[in-house]
Amino acid sequence: MSLRSLSLAVLFAAAVPAAATAQDVTVSIAADEPGPKIDRNIFGQFAEHLGTGIYGGVWVGKDSGIPNVRGIRSDVVAALKAIKVPNIRYPGGCFADEYHWRDGVGPVRRSTVNANWGGAIEPNTFGTDEYFDFVDQVGADANISVNVGSGTVKEAADWMAYMTADQRSSAGQDRAANGHPAQYKVKILGLGNETWGCGGNMRPEYYVDLLKRHARFDRNYNAAQTGDDAMMRVAVGPTDDDTRYTETVMKAWSERDWTWSIEGLSLHSYTVPQWPPSLPSVGFGEGDYAQILKTTLEMDQRIARHSAIMDKYDPKKEVALVVDEWGVWLKEDPGTPEGFLQQQNSMRDAILAALNFNIFARHADRVRAANIAQMVNVLQAVLLTKGPQMVRTPTYWVHQMYVPMQNATFVPVKFAQGEYRYGDLTLPGVDASAFRDKAGRLHVALVNLDPHVAKSVELTAPSEQFGSAKATVLTAPAVNSVNTFDKPDTVEPRPIEAKVRGGKVTVEMPPMAVAVFDLG
Ligand code: AHR
Repeated sequence: MSLRSLSLAVLFAAAVPAAATAQDVTVSIAADEPGPKIDRNIFGQFAEHLGTGIYGGVWVGKDSGIPNVRGIRSDVVAALKAIKVPNIRYPGGCFADEYHWRDGVGPVRRSTVNANWGGAIEPNTFGTDEYFDFVDQVGADANISVNVGSGTVKEAADWMAYMTADQRSSAGQDRAANGHPAQYKVKILGLGNETWGCGGNMRPEYYVDLLKRHARFDRNYNAAQTGDDAMMRVAVGPTDDDTRYTETVMKAWSERDWTWSIEGLSLHSYTVPQWPPSLPSVGFGEGDYAQILKTTLEMDQRIARHSAIMDKYDPKKEVALVVDEWGVWLKEDPGTPEGFLQQQNSMRDAILAALNFNIFARHADRVRAANIAQMVNVLQAVLLTKGPQMVRTPTYWVHQMYVPMQNATFVPVKFAQGEYRYGDLTLPGVDASAFRDKAGRLHVALVNLDPHVAKSVELTAPSEQFGSAKATVLTAPAVNSVNTFDKPDTVEPRPIEAKVRGGKVTVEMPPMAVAVFDLG
């Protein structure tokens, strides 16, 4: 058994004692067995025209009293820059399949009704050029979903020409006339969204026919995009455990000719134990905590299931699995507009995010991009805004702590997961992943799922002697602790003491905590 599979095996420790005494965990790091690169795009964000995700959350307008650059709020940009957001998926979601890009360019904008999300009036003030200004300010790449559900291939191809063609063509001249002479870079192109559902309720075979046309004709004219900068085309893939799209799209890809291809297959998988979402975002108890974490851990097997099908058609792993919608989906907060998907974000959600990042890292050979849903004010947001105020959520801090994982090399670990039990539910007690950053430094990300029991953790590498260790930890007074506009710093990372002795590192890991270690 490889070290990697050993790390995934559940090596059960004794049942959790009733008393909250610290338990010992040893994490053995196979530092001399480097694995695949962990693509930084697994830390992607998703910004849909939904609720206050764009209007209020990102766009306040040039005349706003809220500090902004060309209408884009500066506090949000600064916060996103600090977590090095690699790409921002836009404009949806379900919205994308009813979006007509021409409504959102030029001096005169056409308003529409956002039928998917509360029937709100969509002014289209924030459109293509504002989006590219936004990603540019953040330092992120563009990730565009074209309208496959209700648009035409020509409309999508024209949008690509508007974004990427130079000024020898009318499309490039139109963009220049709107103030943007330089060609934009589209790094990721989603060829539809949930075409098995809100994107048109299509049979996979029907979608594949459409996919071939979009993959051929939605051309990127930006010749500067070569090598690592080449655009990734992402086909609609499965939802949760439904493998029909995985099979059909991957089979078609394996039989493709020179006229078309894709580089990614999308997976949408939310943590939502009941549908419609009915669990509250605040004031919940340990039962919800355990249930939601148990549900989110299903991501590992889900990815394995789809990867196995992909391996059958694509043994060289040329097509990435792109988890471009993931996160916890809870009941909308009372008093918020229906359809705006507004929910608070707690310590539990931070742990959920860390568990997912560890899972994506373990599948780094296949999962090469992912987007949490959604960036600001919607679902598992990293930022919440209210007028001029902005709050970093616990999930934000996990993104910040995991920055060294971006483009790092996966390193296998071996550890005894132990158990955390609540009622009938049994979960792992701890989770860990390790990686070597681009500068060659080793890091370990550790999660203690148990909300009662601290862990005495030893980090050791048979091939290395550690001489130093720096770490930050994110924990909170309770599993349901949140950051509010009045108390924005209840859940914040702080340094944690890690002792170095005999080449090994030891730390007291508090209950319900995420820590990332930098080992020298
Ligand atoms: O993120 C909210 C919605 O969830 C998206 O618009 C859709 O793609 C998914 O069903």
